[in-house]
Amino acid sequence: MELIMRNMFQSLGKNTSANKLAKKYGLRFGASRFVAGESIKSAIEAVKRLNSEGKVVTLDHLGEFVYTEEEALESAAMCIQTLDAISEAGVNSNLSLKMTSLGLDISRELCMKNMRKILDRAKLHNNFVRIDMEDYEHCQISIDIYKELRKEYDNVGLVIQAYLFRTQQDIAHLNKLNANLRLVKGAYKESPSVAFPEKKDVDENYKKIIRQHLLNGNYTAVATHDETMIEYTKSVVSEHQIPKEQFEFQMLYGICEEIQARLVKEGLKVRVYVPYGVDWFGYFMRRLAERPANVWFVLKNLLK
Ligand code: FDA
Repeated sequence: MELIMRNMFQSLGKNTSANKLAKKYGLRFGASRFVAGESIKSAIEAVKRLNSEGKVVTLDHLGEFVYTEEEALESAAMCIQTLDAISEAGVNSNLSLKMTSLGLDISRELCMKNMRKILDRAKLHNNFVRIDMEDYEHCQISIDIYKELRKEYDNVGLVIQAYLFRTQQDIAHLNKLNANLRLVKGAYKESPSVAFPEKKDVDENYKKIIRQHLLNGNYTAVATHDETMIEYTKSVVSEHQIPKEQFEFQMLYGICEEIQARLVKEGLKVRVYVPYGVDWFGYFMRRLAERPANVWFVLKNLLK
C-alpha cells in the first residue's frame, strides 16, 4: 500500500496539468506546513523566525516545468530577487535552486548564462548558492555544469544522492574540486538499473558517502531527518576530530522540528530548507511520497 501511494505521489508531482491547476488555486491541502507561503515577504518572515531559533536557512524559490526561455529568465530573476531580499533583510540564508527552472532542458548555454548571473549576484552579497540534484536524467549534466562553474566560482555547491550506484565515484571525482556537497538519500522515482531499490542499501550507501566526504576534508551538509544517520555523522565527526566548521545538518521546513531544536541546543549548525512560491505542488507531492503518513494532513485540510 505504501509503495502504491509513494508511486502515486511521485507521478502526480510530475504531472503538468495537476501542477498548473494547483498554481491557479494557491497553497492548499495543508501544503503550508511544508511551504513558507507564495511571496518573498512570507519567505523572509519564515527566515527571520528560524534565525531567531538559532537556525540558518537556505531559501528555494519553487519553479518546475520551465519550457520557454522567457520562463527560465523569469525564474533566474526570482533567484536574484531572493538574494537581494536576503541581503536587504540582513537575515542568515543562502539560496538553493533547480537548474531545470533556469532552462537546463532548453539549452545548457541558457542555463549557464542564468547560473552565472545568479552566482555573480550572490558573490556581490557575499552569499552562497546550492544546486539541488534532480532526477537521474539530469545527474551527469548537473555534475558537468557544476565542475565548469566551480572553476570560476567558490560560492557554489551541489547535491549528491545516496540512492544512485554511481555516487561514491562522483564524490571521489568531486573531491578534486574540494566540492561543498549536500548529501541526501534521494527523492525521485528511479530505475533499479541506476539506483538501489531497497531502503536498507540506500541507508548503507548514505553512511559510506557521509564518511567519505567528511574524511576527504570537504564541507559536508548532511541533509536528513533520519536520527540514525545524524548519530552516525556525529560519531564520525567525533572519532576523527572533524571541526564544527566543516559540516552542518540540514532539514526541510516543517519536518522534525524537535530534532532541529535539539541539534541547535547541542551547539551544532542546522540549516532549514525553506521553499516558497506559487509552484508548490511538485515539491509538496515529493514530501507526501517520502512519508505517506503526511497524507493525514491533506485529509484533515480537505475536511476543514
Ligand atoms: P528517511 O526517508 O529514511 O526518513 C527518516 C525519518 O524522517 C522518517 O521516518 C520520518 O520520521 C522523517 N521524515 C522524512 N521525510 C519526511 C517527510 N516528508 N515528512 C515527515 N517526516 C519525514 N532530494 C533530492 O533528490 N535532491 C535534492 O536536492 C534534495 N535536497 C534536500 C535538501 C534537504 C535540506 C533535505 C533534508 C532533503 C533533500 N532531499 C533532496 C530529499 C531527500 O533526498 C530525502 O528524500 C528526504 O530527506 C527524506 O529522507 P531522510 O534522509 O529524511 O530519511
